[in-house]
Amino acid sequence: MARRRAMSAADRAAAGRQLRDSVLEMPELQMAGTVAAYVSVGTEPDTLGLIFALWKRGSYVLLPVLQADRDLDWASYEGPDSLAAGPRGLMEPTEPRRGVTAITSADLIIVPALAVDRAGRRLGRGGGSYDRALARVGTAIQTVALLYEGELLSEVPAGPHDQTVRTAVIAGQGISRLR
Ligand SMILES: Nc1ncnc2c1ncn2[C@@H]1O[C@H](COP(=O)(O)OP(=O)(O)OP(=O)(O)O)[C@@H](O)[C@H]1O
Ligand SMILES: [Mg+2]
Repeated sequence: MARRRAMSAADRAAAGRQLRDSVLEMPELQMAGTVAAYVSVGTEPDTLGLIFALWKRGSYVLLPVLQADRDLDWASYEGPDSLAAGPRGLMEPTEPRRGVTAITSADLIIVPALAVDRAGRRLGRGGGSYDRALARVGTAIQTVALLYEGELLSEVPAGPHDQTVRTAVIAGQGISRLR
């Protein structure tokens, strides 16, 4: 987190553009009708360009709405005007909420992470929100974590509740298959 804080807004935007281009090149994405993504917050690499590009190419894009219990509800992205400021500085979709199980309709799921290891173990920010959401989807679903360079580690500590991801996309380095 300290490394992320040391980056400039321009660095985060540049990383977001690299990640956008790498994600759009994934063969699984070409096939995906419904894509779950997230709106970047704070020091995360910028994802607004990726979300816009997914929507423009005709994907049905689901974005999370953080619940009081830290579980994630989902609603669709219908263009830049379909986002509004929510709690904790988060930008949230304004379309009708489709329930916590809506994630199961996604063909590809893009999640945030602070770090990921070669086995797909994922370090989040301690809310357990994505562990809950990913626990609802089958293992056949393509799950993708977006990282800055240096955040794919040899080992990330994990517990039994931690859900793994199958792919890391790393700004400036492209796609890494995990496990
Ligand atoms: N499936 C689940 N059901 C209920 N609670 C859960 C579940 N998964 C995780 N949690 C809760 O979330 C807490 C935080 O989990 P963890 O530290 O792994 O968060 P994280 O992976 O960093 O966060 P996030 O998933 O939001 O990125 C756990 O200690 C647990 O209490
Ligand atoms: Mg976890």
